[in-house]
Amino acid sequence: MIDTFLSHIYARNPGQQKKIGAFFARVPEARTALGNFLTAYNFLWETPEIGGIAGLAAAYLHVLDEMAYCRVQFTRTGRYPCTSQNAVKEQIYLNSQQMLPHILGLAVSHYLWPAQYQLLEFYKQCVNAQNTSGRFLEVGSGLGIFASILANHITAKATIDIVDISPVSIAFAQKLLLATNGPATQQMRFIESDIACHAAAEPYDFIGMGEVLEHVESPSQILKTLHGLLADDGFLYLSTCANCPAIDHVYLFHTIEDIRSLIHDSGFRILRELIAPSENKPLEYIEKNKLDILYATLLEKA
Ligand SMILES: C[S@@+](CC[C@H](N)C(=O)[O-])C[C@H]1O[C@@H](n2cnc3c(N)ncnc32)[C@H](O)[C@@H]1O
Repeated sequence: MIDTFLSHIYARNPGQQKKIGAFFARVPEARTALGNFLTAYNFLWETPEIGGIAGLAAAYLHVLDEMAYCRVQFTRTGRYPCTSQNAVKEQIYLNSQQMLPHILGLAVSHYLWPAQYQLLEFYKQCVNAQNTSGRFLEVGSGLGIFASILANHITAKATIDIVDISPVSIAFAQKLLLATNGPATQQMRFIESDIACHAAAEPYDFIGMGEVLEHVESPSQILKTLHGLLADDGFLYLSTCANCPAIDHVYLFHTIEDIRSLIHDSGFRILRELIAPSENKPLEYIEKNKLDILYATLLEKA
């Protein structure tokens, strides 16, 4: 299946063959992980909305086109193409024609792009360091692959709330988790909501929020909300990015220091972190040239 998937991509975008081939030669376990991902969720690719493995490859190519367009705009203006969270909600999150290829392409990028793969591995390490029971919250599930990692970690005593603003993400995360973590879904709640409006009766022991902070107009407000939702001895996994134009990115972090300052000002302490630039160059070069940098961290309350 992996060869078929890659051949669909290479046929329409030959430049990808060099990049993905070099990555898999350097990190062969990423290729294995891609194979496992394609096989584990085959039932999902075969749904009519996705259209098989060719549909999944088309979704990935769609995300590459979106990113190339946004990068051109960003280089020209120094701004992200859209700065309104409401506009993104109307045009993307609520629109399945836009949202479905977007979350599919992003999910698969975790196995095809070095920085996204590093992020996924970092998330697994953060989850493995947690207790296996307790109250978990996953914010911005997208397709649900991070929530599935969480679901594989927990025991029957734990609960997971999955909150996403998009009905498309919630519907697909629910399908994915039902099929792969069937019994554990009894312990899950799927909640379509802006995280800014989410309230919980009791605090969470672990919150995961991957690649959501750059989607909101006021990241400090969201971090304060998470601070309020987290138990005093709880942990927050957070990932975001700097200089990473995309159709649904609204808030521009210029440097990693911008992100760290916001974290500290929101009442958190950094326990570990991952800085994953899109190119293998020194951080100063990457920041000066406004290239993409992914950032992930495990936090506790200060
Ligand atoms: C880029 S995807 C991230 C998927 C996954 N967490 C990951 O790290 O790859 C962003 C997700 O966050 C959701 N989202 C964006 N803004 C949100 C908000 N204010 N509250 C809850 N979910 C939000 C989007 O609908 C989308 O499913």
